Amino acid sequence: MLKVGIVGFGFMGQTHYKCWKKVEGAEVAAICDVNPNIEEDTKRAVGNIGDGQEEVDFSSLNVYTDFDKMLSDEKLDAVSITLPTYLHPDNAIKALSAGVNVMCEKPMALNSRECARMIAETERSGKILQIGHCVRFWPEYAKAKEIIDSGEYGKVIAGTFQRLGAPPTWSIDNWFLDEQRSGGVALDLHIHDTDYVQYLFGMPKAVCSVGAKGPGGGLIHISTQYLYDNYTAITAEGGWGMTPSFGFEMSFNIVLEKATLVYDLTRTPMFRICPAEGEAFTPEVEKSDGWLLQIAHFARAVSGAKVEEITTLAQSMNSVKIIEAEKESASKGMKVVIK
Ligand SMILES: NC(=O)c1ccc[n+]([C@@H]2O[C@H](COP(=O)([O-])OP(=O)(O)OC[C@H]3O[C@@H](n4cnc5c(N)ncnc54)[C@H](O)[C@@H]3O)[C@@H](O)[C@H]2O)c1
Repeated sequence: MLKVGIVGFGFMGQTHYKCWKKVEGAEVAAICDVNPNIEEDTKRAVGNIGDGQEEVDFSSLNVYTDFDKMLSDEKLDAVSITLPTYLHPDNAIKALSAGVNVMCEKPMALNSRECARMIAETERSGKILQIGHCVRFWPEYAKAKEIIDSGEYGKVIAGTFQRLGAPPTWSIDNWFLDEQRSGGVALDLHIHDTDYVQYLFGMPKAVCSVGAKGPGGGLIHISTQYLYDNYTAITAEGGWGMTPSFGFEMSFNIVLEKATLVYDLTRTPMFRICPAEGEAFTPEVEKSDGWLLQIAHFARAVSGAKVEEITTLAQSMNSVKIIEAEKESASKGMKVVIK
């Protein structure tokens, strides 16, 4: 039985809890949150997708406010790090150096220098660190990648990827809206699509971004062209300046030579393959979500199973690097080459 802890028990901490409960051979033994009222406040966590308000059985959990104490008292096999982003590196490194495998939420860190520190400690400790790039595991996104890689519908001509919602205001101290702690909309939200673009097409040679600033002066919307040598037109857009009544959209249109792949969380059906000949259809996809699938994948790896390589630390760091280039491009109003 894998003994699991969760540090940071807000929206994503509870989401990981709910996922871990479904992973056979794992049990959540302890949670840690600086908030001493975590049990009562657990009811208020919300988020973009899903029901953060899953019942949590606190009677089966040891509850800590100090991560060091949780690590020394619990002898954990694995920990989910679902803390605000600026706290990822130090706490991931702390857990790894204590001999604990780490499933850490995306983005890996605020900058690529910090990512490199996390990679160095992973290598030194011999433990597993996986970053929560859940979109790679999201059933429709995983299926789209499978279809593209199969070559069945020819080469990719173009792709557009969107992630749009209202400002994230669910955190207790509003850390999301503080760029110093979250990295802002580009690093926090839009990185999901940046990482998926990298997953599908590899590292872009350069990026060309435009951004819109919100009332606080930080970016609230970013739109990027990812430049490759092969004349594909790949763009992604992320924004958290939408009005609350808009809800949340994650979507893509991928244009292949012989089919268009369409996904939009807000539509029914959400996912369609529109072939050059014949009617559009919805392919079978795994009946799950990317959060659970990535945690199940991590659990298998921690248990010693041989797992398919879906996300690597170098790629997670590269996604942060691409975002750094996108922010630079948006602020300078020019193309930025990725080194
Ligand atoms: N994969 C996804 O789809 C997705 C969605 C939302 C957020 N995220 C990421 O997950 C991470 C957490 O986001 P969230 O929405 O859960 O935030 P949140 O504000 O809801 O939760 C963070 C929790 O961490 C606790 N905390 C803060 N400092 C702490 C410390 N030093 N020790 C212990 N607990 C501490 C807070 O009290 C809070 O309960 C972020 O990196 C965010 O980018 C990922």
